[in-house]
Amino acid sequence: MNDHLMEQLLSAYDPAAGTIAGRPRVERRLSELAPCFADQAAGREVLRHADPLVYAVSTFAPADGAGDLHYGLAQVMPGRVGREYFMTKGHFHAWREAAEFYFTLSGEGLMLLEGETGGRAQAVPMRPREAVYVPGRTAHRTVNVGPEPLTFLGVYPARAGYDYGAIAARNFRHVIVARDGGPAMIPREEY
Ligand code: F6R
Ligand code: ZN
Repeated sequence: MNDHLMEQLLSAYDPAAGTIAGRPRVERRLSELAPCFADQAAGREVLRHADPLVYAVSTFAPADGAGDLHYGLAQVMPGRVGREYFMTKGHFHAWREAAEFYFTLSGEGLMLLEGETGGRAQAVPMRPREAVYVPGRTAHRTVNVGPEPLTFLGVYPARAGYDYGAIAARNFRHVIVARDGGPAMIPREEY
């Protein structure tokens, strides 16, 4: 094992802050994510007053070899744009076969999964101490449907990479909205 890796075998997670000690953290605000939401007018209305933090991700990338792993600790804030809950951008992995292991630390969420043709979609519950397996070739977006921050770890092959473009071009075909006091998955055109 090389010396660089030997120094990085332990990482400290702060699930309350959504940070990994000493690792880079990226923040995504509504101004950047507005095109993801179905209700564009509602998004503009929120942005007239503020540009809220929607989510942040800290990453731990100790090594980049073919067999290595990277981790992300992400925190999606509670909130909505119109009836649609705050969520991540969502992506396919650039290396399409790459799967991912998600483990929820706190909060209440749904993992929206869609295949490459967008046909079959699924909203998998995310609850503390439960894991969600995201298969390869599947676009994944995380949605906070509760009143507290949703905090989770994602573990993925170092070579998975990100393809945001393919899903941004058509967006997810389904949206997660508040309906009758709880979250529901509906086709985008029914929003
Ligand atoms: C990595 C992964 C997560 C996400 C994070 C933010 O493959 O799925 O670490 O990167 O949940 O979501 P995106 O990347 O869609 O902004
Ligand atoms: Zn991923």
